[in-house]
Amino acid sequence: MSSPNTPAEPRSFGRSTALKGTITVPGDKSISHRSIMFSALAIGQSRISGLLEGEDVLATIGAMRAMGADIAHDSETGDWLVNGVGIGGLLQPAGALDMGNSGTSTRLLMGLIASHNISATFIGDASLSGRPMGRVTRPLSQMGAEFQSQGGDERLPIMMRGLCPAVPINYTLPVASAQVKSAVLLAGLNTPGVTTVIEPVPTRDHSERMLRSFGAELNSARDDDGALVHQLRGEADFTPQDIIVPGDISSAAFFIVAALIIPGSDLIINNVGMNPTRTGLVTALLAMGGDIVEQNPRKIGGEPVADLHVRHSDLSAIDLDPALAPLMIDECPIFFIAAALAKGTTRTSGLEELRVKESDRLGIMAQGLKQLDVNIEETADGLIIEGRDGESFAPQAKPTIASALDHRIAMSFAIAGCMSKTGVEIDDVRPIATSFPVFETLLMDAAQ
Ligand code: S3P
Repeated sequence: MSSPNTPAEPRSFGRSTALKGTITVPGDKSISHRSIMFSALAIGQSRISGLLEGEDVLATIGAMRAMGADIAHDSETGDWLVNGVGIGGLLQPAGALDMGNSGTSTRLLMGLIASHNISATFIGDASLSGRPMGRVTRPLSQMGAEFQSQGGDERLPIMMRGLCPAVPINYTLPVASAQVKSAVLLAGLNTPGVTTVIEPVPTRDHSERMLRSFGAELNSARDDDGALVHQLRGEADFTPQDIIVPGDISSAAFFIVAALIIPGSDLIINNVGMNPTRTGLVTALLAMGGDIVEQNPRKIGGEPVADLHVRHSDLSAIDLDPALAPLMIDECPIFFIAAALAKGTTRTSGLEELRVKESDRLGIMAQGLKQLDVNIEETADGLIIEGRDGESFAPQAKPTIASALDHRIAMSFAIAGCMSKTGVEIDDVRPIATSFPVFETLLMDAAQ
């Protein structure tokens, strides 16, 4: 998986008719990863429905199988059945763990392995091999794990050796990262005593919700400075669960923006996860005048869910509140497309984390938007985008946009292509399969 042996797949996306009807997006990627990992730590059988069967989650499944979990697809129901090894029961994997493009798999699994007496080698594709891992190896080293990166640069390939019993730590997150928070908490599962993670800026809380449902003793409370303090008592037993994974708001995001910007659109997106640590994009788009109505709010498997009714809207520019950044971190690329078609100049800041995602999302988005003839200024931590007041993109010639092994860049510019007089060519759409394999089919269906 780490070196795709199929050739690049260029694809053109042209002007689209209005998006209409009802669509359902696949399962949430973050929740899918966690459902596999946590089920693999329970003794007995868990059942997962609505799992995202994208390449990133398949990488997690492969790794958990390599460490002893029995994970099967029930072809009758489409559910996944997982028989776990118990906390502390992970086995030595025989070969390298190939994480493909997936930062979440890599960082969370490093956490899990850190408190086991096993060693593992992590490898990944060119994008993942360029991403910083020091943010997880530093706290996990404090717990006793050892890491060696091939290039001495805290990037993959990395060889690690866990320690059992590991040392519980009290760790304050230096970056707002759910992956780092989760890595330390997962290491704490097989660690005696209490592992503490202090989170000055809240990030997605799927790990906390699901850890509790599996039976972990985890307390989260605010300290005097307003930071969230998570205290996990290690060496608990996990009880198998039946998990229903809600639709991924990060995938729905492309259709929310598409329906807002393509004239005449009137689209319902069913079963979207609306966890408040993930809904920053909806908050931002509502502030821009977007017509997005939450219908049938409900709770499924401990997560808030709703159906979203989205209609074409005249969007106005905003100064994006940097406090929203962690709540829409994966949605910034498609937000920039919305901003580029809004009335007025949108200013964003506090988005430096975008530079260490699957690609440098500030640099690559700025480059692609310039190719679409958008006036744009790139700063160290944001973009300043002059909107086109609803006018379609009108570059001199059809641009070819580099997706840079980044699914969200590919999908953002595919949506931009729907509002471009020339259309847009994406140099390689293969990365879309990491998180949203049915993206193109849903786009065609909704545009019928
Ligand atoms: C994720 C956390 C975020 C997000 C990523 C998924 C997770 O990363 O960008 O796509 O599932 O925990 P960071 O923790 O690096 O912000």
